[in-house]
Amino acid sequence: MAVAVAMVAILSCGAVVVASEAVGRSQPQALHLALGNSADAYVVSWLTLDETRTSTVKYGTAPGALDKIATGSARIYDHVGGGFNHFVTLDALPANAKIYYLVGDAEGGFSDVFFFETRRAEAGKAPMTFAIYGDLGLDKGEPSIAAINSHGAQGEYDFVLHLGDISYANDAIISHNSTHDYEEIWRDWFAALAPTMTRTPYMVMPGNHESWSRSPLSGIQTFNFTVYKYKFQMPGAAAGSDTSMFYSFDYGLVHFIALSTETDYDGHPIDFYVKQYKQVNWLRADLAKAAANRANVPWIIVMGHRPVYCTGSPYSKDSVPTENSATLQAWLEPLFKEYRVDAYVSGHAHRYERQFPTYRNQPTSRSYTAPGGTVYLVSGGAGNVEGHSSGGADAVWTAYKNITDFGYSTMTVVNATHLEWQWRVSATDELADAITIVSDHDW
Ligand SMILES: [Fe+2]
Repeated sequence: MAVAVAMVAILSCGAVVVASEAVGRSQPQALHLALGNSADAYVVSWLTLDETRTSTVKYGTAPGALDKIATGSARIYDHVGGGFNHFVTLDALPANAKIYYLVGDAEGGFSDVFFFETRRAEAGKAPMTFAIYGDLGLDKGEPSIAAINSHGAQGEYDFVLHLGDISYANDAIISHNSTHDYEEIWRDWFAALAPTMTRTPYMVMPGNHESWSRSPLSGIQTFNFTVYKYKFQMPGAAAGSDTSMFYSFDYGLVHFIALSTETDYDGHPIDFYVKQYKQVNWLRADLAKAAANRANVPWIIVMGHRPVYCTGSPYSKDSVPTENSATLQAWLEPLFKEYRVDAYVSGHAHRYERQFPTYRNQPTSRSYTAPGGTVYLVSGGAGNVEGHSSGGADAVWTAYKNITDFGYSTMTVVNATHLEWQWRVSATDELADAITIVSDHDW
């Protein structure tokens, strides 16, 4: 049947061009994978502009033998062009398997055949690599999208973690390079990352740009993270959070916790959010559970959109967190110490900052070997229409900073005590910063 996703050409100069190939209104587009609610489950998602009779995935372990069928459902929100967001869970997949799949509906049309690799059976023993970054849109995001696709399409990442501010669709009215509206930017953004997202689980968490559209025509319809909640399905159910706004999961030797720094804690910055008062209690319980399981899953990494330690206004002054960073510090830092969280990774500030392991505004060490505290990393400069933010003077906990290049980060978990963190300049894909955290997690 017809092609599922808009064609993406990756040019040698690193630019990504999203072809304006028309996708039929009932044909699948915006395909993306995510990790499911158990280690052997994956969620396959896509969009159709018109309703289809079914939401179907045909899959199997050979491209010519898609002999299994899974079905799911579609959900809609009240916004022109929002379409039908289909979600199908593939359960009980074998480890170490290449799963070929297509998505769609017999009448509406099916996609091309794609494939992804399931978790390795030895996960936790062999090194695993994850890409991690925040604040990635289309305009000015092209170099990062090209670099990420060059690895993601080759299966080099176990999965991707996007730390909020996804697509910058809500900046449509200030975008200089796009004449597209809110929903078109979302669709083009998915199409641009299709080489990665059809092969590699793409995990997300909410940023301020997901809170609503700035367009006066769509503010109400997109209000309160509606589009984020309808376009993505994260494994909150398995983590006891029951939402894609905040969740956790184990993968190999790491317990990952994704927070909403936008909502659901005292002093949260998105004032109009309908508070549920669930996240604070959930986080403490989840950390306690993860700490009790440390013999099996030694690393605990927490992620959220907004930073705790980051230089310059409005994040800090004279090395002391200010405004929302101070609010986050008051909430998170005692928990990070109590449960010995290895690292907190954020975006939001459009730059790269690596801090020394830090506690109460002071480095606990100037080495990442036996850090004695949580390592704070800001990787918010993947690229978007808003460009870079400059930061301020170095703080006492500043180790390295880049405020001029768009870039993205990766983590490689080598074993129970060694974790490699790298940051690359997207335009050249050259390694610009790297550390190895060496920890017995017992400080
Ligand atoms: Fe942000």
